[in-house]
Amino acid sequence: MKPIQDYFVPWVKGIPMYISSHIELAWQEPELHRMMSNENPMPPSAKVMEAIQQYGQKANRYPDQGLVIRSKIAEINGLDGPENVMLGNGSSEVFDNIFRCFLQTGDEVIQHTPCFGIYKLRCNILGGKLISVPMPYENEKLVFDPDAVLDAVTDKTKIIVIANPNNPSGNFMSTEDFARIADSGIPFIVDEAYIEYSGLGMSQVDLIKKYKNVIVTRTLSKAYGLAGMRFGYALGHEDVIGQISAALLPWNVGTIIMWAALAAFEDVDGLEERVKFNNREADFIEESLSDIPGMIIFHSHANYILFDGTNTGKPGNDMVALAQEKGLIFRPQNVMYGRDGWFRLTLGSKEENRMAVEAIREFYTK
Ligand SMILES: Cc1ncc(COP(=O)(O)O)c(C=O)c1O
Repeated sequence: MKPIQDYFVPWVKGIPMYISSHIELAWQEPELHRMMSNENPMPPSAKVMEAIQQYGQKANRYPDQGLVIRSKIAEINGLDGPENVMLGNGSSEVFDNIFRCFLQTGDEVIQHTPCFGIYKLRCNILGGKLISVPMPYENEKLVFDPDAVLDAVTDKTKIIVIANPNNPSGNFMSTEDFARIADSGIPFIVDEAYIEYSGLGMSQVDLIKKYKNVIVTRTLSKAYGLAGMRFGYALGHEDVIGQISAALLPWNVGTIIMWAALAAFEDVDGLEERVKFNNREADFIEESLSDIPGMIIFHSHANYILFDGTNTGKPGNDMVALAQEKGLIFRPQNVMYGRDGWFRLTLGSKEENRMAVEAIREFYTK
């Protein structure tokens, strides 16, 4: 009899379950301040809570295909209708579904690093090959390099993914550069998880009217503040969305979640309050720390800020450790560009942001 291990496909065999250690820690020690996972510090609005209550009563029923919420999303984005919208259990599931539709074993996905880690995870689980194209680090800025991305294309490239704005660098690539990559015809995912912090005017959603290969992804986890609810979506040409939707797990988004999401979209004031608060606090943190000698702060259009303190001579991991001693969970970053001073923080409540500023100031100036 063959051992069970021999039955696993090679690209799954031996891979451990993905566990986010900092999120585990935060749930285990709720007194710690969560400044690590780009969550929203504000709890759901009364309108969202009302929908959760109301549709909780219908939890005995299977969800439908979400025509109401998909139509609402299409309307918000100036698209024709629900045929342009696919729903997912968070945008992470949306990436997974797209990847499964385009990738076969050995096919390549191009990402522009540093970036969000899920593209790698979903590529690996399909036996794909991840190609990481580093963003140049020039004049204290991480910049996009569409030429390098296009140079990395081979006949095995099946997906290119770029975030708009990017996590962790917090900046936008230009519309011209998005169009240049779209011109390749290769399935091109534009990950707009944080777009609402800048407004939909910065979205690349119009590209999908010209390019069938462009798919824009979004989430309610960030500016809408509903990370624990797990709701994301993809926008694209109806032929592409239709085909990708064929691979969806049936009933992947539950009834309560869909109706709570609709309430969140309709609660325009709730979103505005969260965005305004975030952007004010981001300015506050950046301004409060801009005088630390040698510190490089990446101006962010989202709810996190990346720091490179390498020039101060202090490792970023030590900053993260000190923050934790003070009850704040920051996000460590790998050594990048031969530099070890990186760390990222997610904006928290007013009080948490002031605690963070104080901890950073203490670490670098005392
Ligand atoms: C760039 C980017 N895309 C997508 C996501 C995932 O969001 P979701 O909660 O919708 O899976 C994140 C989460 O941190 C992110 O940083």
